[in-house]
Amino acid sequence: MPESLEHIDKNASKEEKYKQVLIEIKSLVQHEKDFIANLANISAVLKEVFGFWWVGFYLVKDNQLVLGPFQGPLACTRIQLNKGVCGASWGQSKTIVVPNVHQFPGHIACSSASLSEIVVPIIRISSNNEQGQVLGVLDVDSEYECHFDDIDQHYLEQLVRESIEPCFN
Ligand code: SME
Repeated sequence: MPESLEHIDKNASKEEKYKQVLIEIKSLVQHEKDFIANLANISAVLKEVFGFWWVGFYLVKDNQLVLGPFQGPLACTRIQLNKGVCGASWGQSKTIVVPNVHQFPGHIACSSASLSEIVVPIIRISSNNEQGQVLGVLDVDSEYECHFDDIDQHYLEQLVRESIEPCFN
């Protein structure tokens, strides 16, 4: 049975909410093997607790990023390597924080309401592939400028490392 999120204090600090959410998500995914089901619930938890404008996943398929599970408004379905923030995160294998999307060259505006964004790559590291292979990205958009800071980056990267990357194995 899915657990309710009622015990997470919506008025707590952002850091405290991330700490609780990470515990919640770890327990959610360890009981389910299907990675699409897990990505769907992870999007739902992040949307419900933080109220992000758009939160979801793009997955690498046939050398493109293809829309995966998400919560929020309609989104573009395919993104090419190095295009937009998601394609840049994929190409550079690193987290990209964009305080104002209008100042990011090539930003893909799925929704004109989105003003800032953070994209974290999902990476598979194997012994013969030290750089790692990007499997997809976690994309979070906000309708507020400068919404994402070091706290978001720290905890979203921890989330990806601890609870999302293992779903792909
Ligand atoms: N803005 C993203 C595209 C995805 S949507 O925001 C959901 C980008 O520039 O990659």
